[in-house]
Amino acid sequence: MMLPLPAVGGYFKVFCMRIGIFGTGYVGLVQAAVLAETGYSVLCVDVDASKVARLEAGEIPIYEPGLEGLVKHNRAEGRLKFTTQAADAVKHAGIQYIAVGTPPDEDGSADLKYVLAVAESIAIHMESHQIVINKSTVPVGTGDKVRAKIAETLKERGREDLTFDVVSNPEFLKEGSAVGDCMKPDRIVIGTNSRETEAVMRELYAPFNRNHEKIIVMDVRSAEMTKYAANCMLATRITFMNEMANLAEKLGADIEQVRHGIGSDPRIGYHFIYPGIGYGGSCFPKDVRALIQTAKAVGYETTLLNAVENRNNTQKTVLFNKLNAYFGGDLKGKVIALWGLAFKPNTDDMREAPSRVLMEALWEAGASVRAFDPEAMQEAERVYGKSDRLTLVENKEAALEGADALAIVTEWKAFHAPDFARIKNTLREPAIFDGRNIYDPAVVARHGIDYYAIGRGKTI
Ligand SMILES: NC(=O)c1ccc[n+]([C@@H]2O[C@H](COP(=O)([O-])OP(=O)(O)OC[C@H]3O[C@@H](n4cnc5c(N)ncnc54)[C@H](O)[C@@H]3O)[C@@H](O)[C@H]2O)c1
Repeated sequence: MMLPLPAVGGYFKVFCMRIGIFGTGYVGLVQAAVLAETGYSVLCVDVDASKVARLEAGEIPIYEPGLEGLVKHNRAEGRLKFTTQAADAVKHAGIQYIAVGTPPDEDGSADLKYVLAVAESIAIHMESHQIVINKSTVPVGTGDKVRAKIAETLKERGREDLTFDVVSNPEFLKEGSAVGDCMKPDRIVIGTNSRETEAVMRELYAPFNRNHEKIIVMDVRSAEMTKYAANCMLATRITFMNEMANLAEKLGADIEQVRHGIGSDPRIGYHFIYPGIGYGGSCFPKDVRALIQTAKAVGYETTLLNAVENRNNTQKTVLFNKLNAYFGGDLKGKVIALWGLAFKPNTDDMREAPSRVLMEALWEAGASVRAFDPEAMQEAERVYGKSDRLTLVENKEAALEGADALAIVTEWKAFHAPDFARIKNTLREPAIFDGRNIYDPAVVARHGIDYYAIGRGKTI
């Protein structure tokens, strides 16, 4: 299956200035736009016809800073196109990215049906050598499955003469800064066992590797595991801090002071040690669960990751428990103002967001919610529809009107320096429940507002 390539540069110039990308979600669309920006001709395929129609009409289905301009510019230049036809992408290029979802199966393991469907489509339509780059987050061993699916389909076609290679190239972008992360990656992990394919990949990513060497080449399985290990490490750091925060609250310590105290140790550092109300989003929860399942399948029990998963689920209920205690266990008829719906700032993504756990618990207890988020309002309406229990308002001040208390759920910059006097005068009960520790307790107290945050000494 290896590429018969004495002249890698020749292959690259002929086939690789053109790229096919399967999946136009956060990863596929951003990767496509960034590659097009550097000069590649990119044809994106998605099975979601309405998404493709929107993209072709110049609409961006997700909010990601900088993405809209990039997509518009490259569409106008003719370097970025969208289709529902897999055949067109395969014909277009000799490099195909798989950037489709890998949602959790019932037991938490990654469901590979979309990844394998793309592998099959590529094999059905290919007429010349293809390099298939797996960018989706996939369990160790998926490279072999993709390879087997392509080989099997080519055999069915009677085209075993066609050659291909499968590369693991996990994506480390962060939603909210995806364009920047993709333009200037910290590292480019390439999992391949072929020197020829490595050379093509190095040439493909040369525009992103100019400042210093960022490419790390390893075998396919190690590359696949690197992605899970990275996300599980970050989820563990967050969870560790949440555990410390809960303990600090009981001990009368302020976790924010502790955070500064430990972050100053260069062995620990300041990244990913913010306590809060649990990690969410489309990656950490599913990737932690998937690695737990991968380990189970080989007879290994991930006691640490099991604890991370459990603690995180509990952490998402912390803000509700505080509100419930504050109102004496009776939230019936209460109106809670929510600032923030997205799972983190600078995105409209609400997948596994702590806001969902909080709102659903409030509704269950008979309360209703008035919510504002700078970007996730449409998404909230898509998820929950229109109802009396959830009023989506046009700005953060409007969320306070008629509300009993305020909950801070996402740490958007726009929430960092509010008009505390207005909060005090508008809320029925002057109380803020801050799930992100964005305020100084002394400042809030000076305004005569009760302040309950995460791990800041004051418990309820
Ligand atoms: N979102 C992130 O921040 C992020 C970061 C790194 C890695 N990842 C991983 O990248 C992968 C994609 O994530 P995402 O957030 O972009 O997903 P997404 O759900 O936003 O998008 C996936 C897209 O793939 C399309 N699709 C499904 N089957 C297809 C097929 N057969 N052909 C063409 N398109 C098809 C879907 O319609 C959808 O538009 C996942 O494995 C995820 O874990 C995500």
